Amino acid sequence: MDSKLLNQIDLDPDFEPVTNPSDNRTFQSVLSARMGRRSLMKGTMGAGLASIMGMSLAGCSDDDSTASGNATSQSAAMLGFKAVTTSSGNAIVVPEGYSSVAFVPWGTPITGAYPAYRSDGTNTAEEQENQMGQNHDGMHYFPIDLKSGGESSSEGLLVMNHEYINPDHLHPAGATAAPRPSAEVKKELAAHGVSVVHVKQDSNGAWDVVFGSPFNRRVTGATEMELRGPVRGDDKLKTRFSPAGTETRGTLNNCAMGPTPWGTYLAAEENWAGYFVNADAPQPREHARYGISSVNGRYRWNTAIGGEDLYVRFNAAKTGATAADDYRNEPNTFGWMVEIDPFAPESKPQKRTALGRFGHEGVIFAPVTEGEPIVCYSGDDSRFEYIYKFVSAQPYRAATAGGYLLNEGTLYVAVFHDDGTGDWKALVHGNAGLTVADGFASQADVLLNTRLAADALGATPMDRPEWGAINPLNNEVYFTLTNNSQRAPGDTNAANPNGPNATGHIIRWLENGDDFAATSFDWDIFVFAGDAGTETVVGDEAVVTLDATNLFNSPDGLWFDGSGRLWIQTDGSDSAPYLNNMMLAADPVTREIRRFLVGPEGCEVTGVTTTPDQRTMFVNIQHPGGSWPDASEPRPRSSTVIVTKDDGGVVGS
Ligand code: FEO
Ligand code: CA
Ligand code: CA
Ligand code: CA
Repeated sequence: MDSKLLNQIDLDPDFEPVTNPSDNRTFQSVLSARMGRRSLMKGTMGAGLASIMGMSLAGCSDDDSTASGNATSQSAAMLGFKAVTTSSGNAIVVPEGYSSVAFVPWGTPITGAYPAYRSDGTNTAEEQENQMGQNHDGMHYFPIDLKSGGESSSEGLLVMNHEYINPDHLHPAGATAAPRPSAEVKKELAAHGVSVVHVKQDSNGAWDVVFGSPFNRRVTGATEMELRGPVRGDDKLKTRFSPAGTETRGTLNNCAMGPTPWGTYLAAEENWAGYFVNADAPQPREHARYGISSVNGRYRWNTAIGGEDLYVRFNAAKTGATAADDYRNEPNTFGWMVEIDPFAPESKPQKRTALGRFGHEGVIFAPVTEGEPIVCYSGDDSRFEYIYKFVSAQPYRAATAGGYLLNEGTLYVAVFHDDGTGDWKALVHGNAGLTVADGFASQADVLLNTRLAADALGATPMDRPEWGAINPLNNEVYFTLTNNSQRAPGDTNAANPNGPNATGHIIRWLENGDDFAATSFDWDIFVFAGDAGTETVVGDEAVVTLDATNLFNSPDGLWFDGSGRLWIQTDGSDSAPYLNNMMLAADPVTREIRRFLVGPEGCEVTGVTTTPDQRTMFVNIQHPGGSWPDASEPRPRSSTVIVTKDDGGVVGS
């Protein structure tokens, strides 16, 4: 169902203009001696041979894992299911002995008068504000008794992002061309954002929404929010809505997320730049470096008939006398991590500017230690963008921990050296490259222009960093690098060794001294994705050779469960041999990988969490292509899927 009325490129949620013009791309492309030992893909599927290489992670060997036993027994404990085959069917595939059921699809009523979903697209904007949004993405389960130290696995708050919209499905006859009817724009904003859903198991073990719960909540593209941290109140945040530069409305393109150590939820703002238009020439650098269009916003919201302030703000051109008279700075209030407290339904979401402004895919918090700073990681998912780490200024104290810890600290960007080591470079105003003479007026200016500051520090341009995950058993940090069609053969580095990178890889590192706040680390490549026969080589040994049970492409979602099982979700080509997008489980020690789930046709599998007992798994299915989950309905609906083991056991075991 292609849009008839809006430009296809504008609607493509994966449309990623390359906006990094820095010369970091060339001065890092020198091949090291280590690269001379790279291996070639072997086997019969070698059309378009890919150069692949893995390295052993110094100080991060199998011996450091708290998991015991040899490789075989480790895997037996980690991966206890039989791999499923690839599939092009329009259904969820799970292993023998497992069951799945769709849950809270787009349109499910959760608040207000609980307006029923109508399958013809005629739900009003007001109804959509009380229903699950579209395009489910990152998700986390909070036990309902978390704040009192409990670990309920039968009742909790399921919180998830709604990344973008499918106008053809959202409206009865698709989107009306610009100028846009304001009722359509209002509904489109309402289908974005975040849902908080109070969920509970009944006596038969089936999960239901707790109707009438005060915790059920929709946060949308129109919800009022605070800006916090070093950029709050900066001149470049001042708008007609907030002349003080302290507030904004809405969060958009929320991809992945991260639960904080104090029981709140951080939603990432990823491809937010696409929603704005600024025809001024030249654009200010805080627009241009993020790829804001000079022609059209993705959904033309700024053209809404009637000229309501809530919609005209998507035009970021200078139209008034001062910043307080127009929305020249509105895009500067996006590109942040947004903290939402699911246990405080009346609380205002808080945009945490200290964590930087870029295309945040998500965030992953390191395990906390009393009296030590908190540390979290976030990738910038665009071609040739970077991986960041935030270290708080204040120490973590369990009794008082809260969002204030995210308001003050040091943001770092990663440099991956070709010898398997890496450094974190601090994005601190006044440091070399980030002085007034370098064009950065203040720390707020550095954070507002995080990408430019990282350019100046020589950060390593990556192949689209998506989710991160931390192994709870040994503190290794993993990140997916989903693919990069535009990396040239002569523009590679050891951490991104394939040009082009058609199928992606997963990188991992261990911080020096096993200290998450360290400023250097050792890294290796965990696995290269690809067709059967794709090898990940360490020294002269292929430590992973993909086959029919685990071939996959474009790793995106990534998550460690409480047992140290690594879950890998894909958002890639669904042509042969991969077929529908999928989720696999991996043993991080042995690198054994098995396909666990295949999604319905046309979908991306993104977002996974379990209850604390790991006996209920929630997985999100985004943008299914056919009539799914209900074959009798004309419109596909993004949906959560609940996966359980029929014997009641731990999922994946
Ligand atoms: Fe929304 Fe980078 O995936
Ligand atoms: Ca993603
Ligand atoms: Ca993706
Ligand atoms: Ca997506």
